[in-house]
Amino acid sequence: MAFLSDALARVKPSPTIAVSSKARELKAAGKDVISLGAGEPDFDTPDNIKEAAIKAIRDGKTKYTNVDGIPELKQAICAKFKRENNLDYKPSQVMAAPGGKKVIFNAMVATLNPGDEVVIPAPYWVSYPDIVLLAGGTCVFAEAGIGTKFKLSPETLEAAITPKTKWVIFNHPSNPTGAAYTRDELKALTDVLLRHPQVWVLSDDMYEHLVYDGFKFTTPAEIEPALYDRTLTVNGVSKAYAMTGWRIGYCGGPEALIKAMTTLQSQTTSNPTSISQWASVEALNGTQDFLPVRADSFKQRRDLIVSMLNDADGIDCPTPEGAFYVFPSCAGLIGKKTPGGKVLENDEDVVTALLEDEGVAVVHGAAFGLSPYFRISYATSAEELEEAGRRIQRFCASLK
Ligand SMILES: Cc1ncc(COP(=O)(O)O)c(C=O)c1O
Repeated sequence: MAFLSDALARVKPSPTIAVSSKARELKAAGKDVISLGAGEPDFDTPDNIKEAAIKAIRDGKTKYTNVDGIPELKQAICAKFKRENNLDYKPSQVMAAPGGKKVIFNAMVATLNPGDEVVIPAPYWVSYPDIVLLAGGTCVFAEAGIGTKFKLSPETLEAAITPKTKWVIFNHPSNPTGAAYTRDELKALTDVLLRHPQVWVLSDDMYEHLVYDGFKFTTPAEIEPALYDRTLTVNGVSKAYAMTGWRIGYCGGPEALIKAMTTLQSQTTSNPTSISQWASVEALNGTQDFLPVRADSFKQRRDLIVSMLNDADGIDCPTPEGAFYVFPSCAGLIGKKTPGGKVLENDEDVVTALLEDEGVAVVHGAAFGLSPYFRISYATSAEELEEAGRRIQRFCASLK
């Protein structure tokens, strides 16, 4: 009898966490490493949010709560969806969970049966396929390559849908590419979904507030009300409020789905941490003034890294609309040889050589389902980014 479950054999450890660990290891061994692998803002959690958490501890708000979240947080979530997305959800239609990742896990485990298909645009956030596989579903990848600026075309979406499709997962601004859909681009995709009434939409809006150059973010249930009854709108405080460690994600959707997800959560994690919930009430209800300031800082760093990458031989980097990632093509490096004599056969070879030769840690595109690319997280200081850009240029120039 095998000790480990068959379900576990379907998942693999997160490649983005693996890169960060390798970079930490090399740093600990004394190597000068710039780590551009991690998917989290370099800002601190704002003080008003920290104070709300400290107050919650002092007030003894340290006990179990309702599984789906305290009423105050559910109210704040409803108000956020109305204020920012023009979406009307009642408290019975929203829930909080220990992270956006757990929201997505709840949704997939609560709904997927063997044979059910989930359409995932590629490149994708690394966790989507593993969550779907763990839940017993089948992934169908729909390529959104550099030719369409990493955006899914309506034709590709249509071709990916079959009678077995249960969900389509949208994520914009995207991890790993930063691409975000204009209202018209998104509408062209929701039009396709109107023709397939059995398909549900999971919209992962985690990077909603990180958009640049006046880009206007929209979400499927907002622009196509006919999809409201089969859309789960997912968000969280991790990226917008620099609260990755607090573990609060949330969602809005049809009551029956939220009820099923709550049942699942009741037998897995129970409620998300009470203190983090009070902090999130302040995040959602408190001042939002720092959001555009932080977005502006990310925009400047995006512009810096995109320009330095495009000045490197063999690299092509489109300018993304949002998030804090760029996803340059390294097609021009494939087949070349490093000064140490290694031929670069794929994007994994490229990122390994870049780390070994120049101490820059990035994640290969294959980890996100599209090659030959790599992902840079530019949520680091401008000085470090500039140095990383110089090292990448030197690395590219050293190849023969
Ligand atoms: C696209 C996307 N969705 C969801 C998440 C999950 O965030 P969290 O679980 O911290 O709320 C992440 C985190 O990296 C992400 O990049």
